[in-house]
Amino acid sequence: MSSEGEKFDTLLHETRRFSPPRAFREQATASSQEIYHKAAANPEEFWAEQARCLQWSNPFTKVLDWEPPHARWFYDGELNAATNTVDRHRQGATKNKAAIIWEAETGERTVLTYDMLGREVDRAAHMLTSLGVGAGDRVTIYLPMVPELVIAMLACAKIGAIHSIVFGGFSAKALAERINDADAHVVITADAGFRRGKVVPLKANTDQALTQCPRVKQVVVVERVGQVEGLTMHQGRDVWWHEMMDQAPATPFAAVPRNAEDVLFTLYTSGTTGKPKGIVHSTAGYLTGANTSCRLVFDLKPDDIYFCTADIGWITGHTYVVYGPLSCGATVVIYEGAPDWPERDRYWEIIERYGVTVFYTAPTSIRTFMKWGPELPSSHRLDSLRLLGTVGEPINPEAWMWYYQVIGQSRCPIVDTWWQTETGAAMISPLPGLTELKPGSAAVPVPGIFTDVVDAKGEPVGPGGGGYLVVTRPWPSMLRTIWGDDPRYRETYWDRFPGVYFTGDGARVDEDGYYWILGRVDDVINVSGHRIGTMEVESALVDDRRVAESAVIGRHHDVKGQAISAFVTLKEGVQGTSELAQDLKVHVAETIGAMARPEEIFFTAELPKTRSGKIMRRLLRDVAEGRALGDTSTLADPAVIESLKQQYEGQD
Ligand code: WTA
Repeated sequence: MSSEGEKFDTLLHETRRFSPPRAFREQATASSQEIYHKAAANPEEFWAEQARCLQWSNPFTKVLDWEPPHARWFYDGELNAATNTVDRHRQGATKNKAAIIWEAETGERTVLTYDMLGREVDRAAHMLTSLGVGAGDRVTIYLPMVPELVIAMLACAKIGAIHSIVFGGFSAKALAERINDADAHVVITADAGFRRGKVVPLKANTDQALTQCPRVKQVVVVERVGQVEGLTMHQGRDVWWHEMMDQAPATPFAAVPRNAEDVLFTLYTSGTTGKPKGIVHSTAGYLTGANTSCRLVFDLKPDDIYFCTADIGWITGHTYVVYGPLSCGATVVIYEGAPDWPERDRYWEIIERYGVTVFYTAPTSIRTFMKWGPELPSSHRLDSLRLLGTVGEPINPEAWMWYYQVIGQSRCPIVDTWWQTETGAAMISPLPGLTELKPGSAAVPVPGIFTDVVDAKGEPVGPGGGGYLVVTRPWPSMLRTIWGDDPRYRETYWDRFPGVYFTGDGARVDEDGYYWILGRVDDVINVSGHRIGTMEVESALVDDRRVAESAVIGRHHDVKGQAISAFVTLKEGVQGTSELAQDLKVHVAETIGAMARPEEIFFTAELPKTRSGKIMRRLLRDVAEGRALGDTSTLADPAVIESLKQQYEGQD
């Protein structure tokens, strides 16, 4: 971490600070430091108060039961997540308010009011019930960013079924693995999706996946594209969404009351082994985290038009496209496609068209916009914006400044929100009306969240030191376990520092208590804000019969944050040609998804290993980033890395 350390010290020295603009401060929901004091003095009471902002069919009387590493929050209460996100806004003034403004990549636009969304959710709940889906059943959803995705997930919530959404960029193989792990019997997909004008064959991928999933009984197919070439509907298994919806009763569907701790959804994320983890979220705790952070961090108000660019297939989309903003009764803009389609100003056009007030995106996108130049945003009216947010990876101060000045016109606070699939909601972030901003720092834990930075022994490192980022107390939206694998839950998050949640991230805290996130300290790579396990890519590579062994690392990339470099040794007699490298890249993309495709593949006769046979990834990173090699004294054969370095430099 030494070069990071130096960078950090320079940063600290040079850091500019930005106070919340007065106009923002005066109207902010969190407008007094008192909120931090109250939450620190009695966290359980603070969270109970937040949870009471939800609508309960049976109010809770118990707040927390904590038997590390298992927490139960509000556990004698009952509620329904669809009631909280939709039905409670179908009364009074919000009944005919826009819940979702959807814009297709192809240009069509649709508005669903809360009442319209509610009717669709009810119909879809009837439909899923008629297919035999009941409370506690898992439904895998593999859809593009279309309104049916939101309707499907909320229909599951209304029934009490558990949705497991698989991002549409995942391959058939990755989809099959996730369907089987969740043991889902129903899959909802689309004939295809649009991405940069191209047709993404979601149904064909699903068909391929289902050859490996004998327990799936029913596939519901949304017709998004129409006339998709080669599309086949399997009789007895596949049904069209629109036909089923037409047949479903148009009557209200009575929400199934759920215990606070019942599972709302699972969502798969990458870990340090090849097998993805099904992160399990509860109903009440998760919703409390999503709702509270939307009110306090995003300062969401009834008149906001809110646009989060994340795909609903990731946790950011779950929490900050669907559950959070809808639980607040906000208007959410959902855009189906790519930011550069048909032109590179698509987001700015959308912001201008709908008068977006709160905009949330990822640093990798911001760096891409910087590359495309300030003329594109400058040619649109962005003066409706009042707050900006970022998530997914550390934001470099240059990108932060650009976002602040060019997009926010030096008027909008930026909330840099640190959190994870596992945490359910934002954990470290400024409160926009209160916190002084330092470009590049996610600032401080939000009220009710307690974090620290510790050394390898679990001792707090104190101001200025670097170490492991941990969460020291349970919080409502924390994951409850890993689906079907509680031992892995304990081992991954709780065994390293007993009783304390280990995030997998490194961080430093400065003299003011501000957190500077340094990135993952485990074998997880963050490519454009997507979490990818090195083991997943390695096992995809060794899957090819020509490959003997591989080591995958994340190297610095100016736009993506990190890029994947793969070092591969081949079996006897196999030549490392550029065609083979190309084949392997395609194979990884087909096995996992395009986001996991290695940027480069290096063939090497041997991998650098210690005497005990451990691959020294640190040295591979040095090679891939063109740095001087670090300490090589523990290598079994130092010549291996030297020749690799020469080979690498030769390729440059
Ligand atoms: C990284 C996304 C720095 C971090 C919500 C974390 C961040 C991982 C930030 C979780 C941020 C997320 N600053 N790093 N503001 N936000 N990360 O599960 O490494 O897809 O552990 O959740 O992204 O990624 P995930």
